[in-house]
Amino acid sequence: MILGSGFHHAVAALKASLEVAYEDLPGFPPMGITGHQGKLMVGHVGTTPVLLLSGRAHYYEGHPMERVTFSVRALAAFGIHDLLLTNAAGGINPRFKPGDFMVVTDHINAMGVNPLRGEVTIGTERFVDLSHAYDGDLSNLLHAAARDCGLRLETGVYLAVSGPTYETPAETRAFGRLGADAVGMSTVPEVIVARQCGLRVAAVSCITNRAAGLGGDPLSHAEVLDTAERVKTTGTLLLKNFAHHYGQRQRCATSPPPDDNRHT
Ligand code: HPA
Repeated sequence: MILGSGFHHAVAALKASLEVAYEDLPGFPPMGITGHQGKLMVGHVGTTPVLLLSGRAHYYEGHPMERVTFSVRALAAFGIHDLLLTNAAGGINPRFKPGDFMVVTDHINAMGVNPLRGEVTIGTERFVDLSHAYDGDLSNLLHAAARDCGLRLETGVYLAVSGPTYETPAETRAFGRLGADAVGMSTVPEVIVARQCGLRVAAVSCITNRAAGLGGDPLSHAEVLDTAERVKTTGTLLLKNFAHHYGQRQRCATSPPPDDNRHT
């Protein structure tokens, strides 16, 4: 799991057996943004083994895309198969209110860059198919997790901009017409690299504010953090329940069927 701005409180759900600061991991970026911790943790959420990255590098911080996505390549090399990404986003869909959660069904890359540009990593595809970038089974586990806690989960298309400016009201209108439901400054580069590495991916956004022009007030990082703080219990529970369903699914997939008689 990669925890973004809206979800950093969810570290509390992990019983960690190992914690390593990014600064002690070669290739990992130093953290600069309020609300981002910058550590890799290994442990359990309930009984499910989870590797958690608390904090991520953003393109707007000035890192090259290789660095923004390095941790995903490291996870893939480590043997991770499934990746859950989380982020904070501005709601474009007029139905979305601050504090809602949205399962990402697809994305629009409006960052102006692609993390796969350049030399192709040995053993990976040059041209990566993104027709089904967000895995239906993993996303269904998010829906099951939400049902468990009575949470109404939205679904929608996440549009990524490079930032660090927030969108203008005209961009909000344009992005809405393009088919976006929410806008943020992360996740898409990691999803693209994860798909190149063959990982299954799901993503969930915490809608921390209405996108520019839709609410009355100017946008601010303080509002993003305030909303995340307000819904931290729900966000943490969602990830906890997801881990529970994921663990159950993995156990079913690996345990022998009931009529298996290999041992008799
Ligand atoms: N725009 C871009 N990124 C964001 C926003 C937003 O409105 N809210 C949280 N991250």
